[in-house]
Amino acid sequence: MNNPQPLIQPYRPFDAEKARRDFPILSRSVHGKPLIYFDTASSAQRPLAVIEAVSNFYREHNANVHRGVHSLSQEATDLYEGGRNKLAKFINAPSEREVIFTRGTTESINLVAQSFLRPTIQPGDEILVTQMEHHANIVPWQLLCEQTGASLKVVPINQRGELQIDVLEAMLSERVKLLGVVHISNALGTVNPVAEICRMAKRFEIPVLVDGAQAMPHSPVDVQALGCDFYCLSGHKMYGPTGIGALWAHEATLDAMPPWQGGGEMISRVTFEKTTWNELPAKFEAGTPHIAGGVGLGAAIDYLSAFDMKEVTSHENGVLEYATDRLGEIEDLRIIGTARNKAGVISFTLGDIHPHDLGTIIDHHGIALRTGHHCAMPLMQFYNVPATARVSFGLYNTKSEVDALVVALHKTQEMFG
Ligand SMILES: Cc1ncc(COP(=O)(O)O)c(C=O)c1O
Repeated sequence: MNNPQPLIQPYRPFDAEKARRDFPILSRSVHGKPLIYFDTASSAQRPLAVIEAVSNFYREHNANVHRGVHSLSQEATDLYEGGRNKLAKFINAPSEREVIFTRGTTESINLVAQSFLRPTIQPGDEILVTQMEHHANIVPWQLLCEQTGASLKVVPINQRGELQIDVLEAMLSERVKLLGVVHISNALGTVNPVAEICRMAKRFEIPVLVDGAQAMPHSPVDVQALGCDFYCLSGHKMYGPTGIGALWAHEATLDAMPPWQGGGEMISRVTFEKTTWNELPAKFEAGTPHIAGGVGLGAAIDYLSAFDMKEVTSHENGVLEYATDRLGEIEDLRIIGTARNKAGVISFTLGDIHPHDLGTIIDHHGIALRTGHHCAMPLMQFYNVPATARVSFGLYNTKSEVDALVVALHKTQEMFG
């Protein structure tokens, strides 16, 4: 088969200037200025290798997967399943059967809520989440609590935006049926000590779900070393397509869970009297999947695998440190989230300037940053702000882009007098 070859040859040490050239969009301009993309936490840009893999799939191999004997269907199946295999290796999953393709982190969490927890949770049981969760790791549990009479408890954070680990530990008990925790906060950048949290939860046999949406593109992730029970991720945060993501869980756990959605693909045999389920991972993948998404995610993993992920982390942390210092020099700029262990996200407010006005003005400098509540309204309430501006860094960002941001922020301040 004419498999698309990764367009990027492995290159180490990591070189951000070189990596930038892999992203066609970074050479465009916005409002006549070179684009500076500081919104990777929302959605990363795609390297040419991913764009080409998706386009090549549609040009050369497009067909439905799993069901056909014809060549195109087999090629499509190989490419789609290839994406799953690559992802399984990338997160050190013991088996690719443990990797369920979903639409993304949100769908993965909903799947766990409805298929893993709903059949067994009782009134009086508790689900723990943290104060810094994305809505995706709050609302599915609230829905479940409404459906079952269980209650949602919140692990507090300190002013820096770090989890109060001692309080978390004290909240663990036999009543807790699941602990949901974000690996890296999208709004604060806090990196949570997930392995330590999992060890604590194990003492009470509490399953831990980790929201890994932000961690995947930033650092090496090893689900076995973390010791978690569920790991949820999104392709578009890790330089892959939108509409594809995954849930990882142990095979035994997934085997014991009932299917979530019914339809084609997830069945073994259907009669009007009784239906039996397909094996993993198909049991959780009803209907025609996002085939090109799986192929593109595989290409994104090939792309990331060309680097040493530790070098990517260290580059992004270097930009973060530099940006923290430079933004810290600006009068009236308040950084929200100053955890000691942080990844490439800086949320801030600038005097009385509303973040939306700020974002609009900064856009005219060609700089894309995000403003709003970042799908973390309870966190905004904790800091007593309606919204923040947020810059977030990907592997392609550089210190000179930070300098351009600082100039644009000074100009904005001048405009507001
Ligand atoms: C920490 C975190 N969790 C969950 C999500 C939801 O991801 P998705 O919209 O891809 O399902 C996001 C997206 O911003 C996120 O940053």
